[in-house]
Amino acid sequence: MLLKGNTFVAGSQWGDESKGKIADCLAAEADIVARAQGGPNAGHTVWIGEKKYVFHLLPCGILHDHCVNIVGNGVVIGVEGIVHEIESLQERGWRVDGKNLLISDRAHLILPRHLAADNANEDSEGNKLGTTRRGVGPAYSDKAARISAMRMCDLMEFDLFREKYARICDMSDIPEEEMNATLDAYADHAEFLRPHVTDTTAVLHDALEAGKRIVFEGAQGTLLDIDFGTYPYVTSSSTTAGGVCTGLGIPPSAVQETMAVVKAYTTRVGLGPFPSEMDDVFGAKVREAGDEYGATTGRPRRCGWLDMVGLRYSSRINGFTQLAVSKMDVLDGLETLRICVGYRRNGEAVDRFPALLSVLEECEPVYEEMPGWSEDTSAVREYDQLPANARAYLERIEALLDTPVTCVSVGKERSATMARM
Ligand code: GDP
Ligand code: IMO
Ligand code: MG
Repeated sequence: MLLKGNTFVAGSQWGDESKGKIADCLAAEADIVARAQGGPNAGHTVWIGEKKYVFHLLPCGILHDHCVNIVGNGVVIGVEGIVHEIESLQERGWRVDGKNLLISDRAHLILPRHLAADNANEDSEGNKLGTTRRGVGPAYSDKAARISAMRMCDLMEFDLFREKYARICDMSDIPEEEMNATLDAYADHAEFLRPHVTDTTAVLHDALEAGKRIVFEGAQGTLLDIDFGTYPYVTSSSTTAGGVCTGLGIPPSAVQETMAVVKAYTTRVGLGPFPSEMDDVFGAKVREAGDEYGATTGRPRRCGWLDMVGLRYSSRINGFTQLAVSKMDVLDGLETLRICVGYRRNGEAVDRFPALLSVLEECEPVYEEMPGWSEDTSAVREYDQLPANARAYLERIEALLDTPVTCVSVGKERSATMARM
């Protein structure tokens, strides 16, 4: 009903748009759910009844027995973290085995020194970026530097892994005791993960040939992209449509649809400019109503109005073909809604998303106002049953982005979603 072709579920803003919830909805109709980038910095939430699941490295398709889940080559993996995530799901009664979870042998590892480096940067005022402290940036840096990075395929050849790891520890002055403790743990984890590790690119090529239906579950958001985001306050991977291809080893033609997940307002965790931020009572109200606290770190999320300058930029980079608008219920009861339709700087209109942060910091939002609605939308399951002003808000977003809204979410629970044909 919702899945029209192989679909990239894209983060259109600064992350936490409800990609997990939307990917879970699409997974009901898919054969494969694949993650192409990011790592345990992601926190994707799915609620089934009263049960909450937060995914960091595993795709949300694990919650669907018929889905094969792929963690692609572009993902950086903390070995302990992924073992823990698998075990936690198994303890909660979910099947996670070598058939429904495949991990790329080319995926890079987040090693203990990457975690240490991320924490050291965050603890020093000068280098602080407001990261999730999961070692993601340092792991991608090592991947690009090519000197001392390690991949899943290295872990699977443990004698060679041991030798290489010892060499790296020696170069980095890591004490022998610490090195041996890590290696002992990694030896166990390697055996635990062995049934899952494979050439996932080949699996995807076969699936594409066989006409399987695939959901590409994006992580982070376009404005956190390493190239296009608010650099340096970004993550270290390609969070946009291009990243799906490089992070899985598939051609652009394999991505048939890009469903942008657009939160009905904007949030951001961590540092960096945010022109439509509401650092006032509205911001606090939305934070409470939307329970805007990080799924990975628990940090309060900064809240703001919808920003069309950022979204138009995001749409052009990704090629949105559909919009899934989430958290509409959070806006219930607001008398007036604002949409940032442009920026002004020194009295001049700015219609492009600026590269230089000092310029973005000086941009003032230009707002268009729309009337809100007083009704409770959380129980609505048919688009036509939404309050007229809620539909008008959605249709304004649709017009501003020239892309149809095909899905609306009005609550955290899996079923609080409606498709619009
Ligand atoms: P992701 O990283 O894009 O998957 O999003 P997160 O899971 O980090 O953040 C979305 C948060 O909003 C989670 O707590 C979800 O349970 C919750 N959520 C998702 N959709 C809705 C919705 O439509 N309404 C409300 N009230 N909460 C939602
Ligand atoms: P999901 O997939 C929101 C942010 C961090 C920080 C910056 C860099 O759940 O939407 P990193 O640890 O990646 O080096 O941090 O990126 N960030 C996210 N913000 N949602 C995420 O993922 C994020 N992943 C990273 O807060 O500002
Ligand atoms: Mg999240």
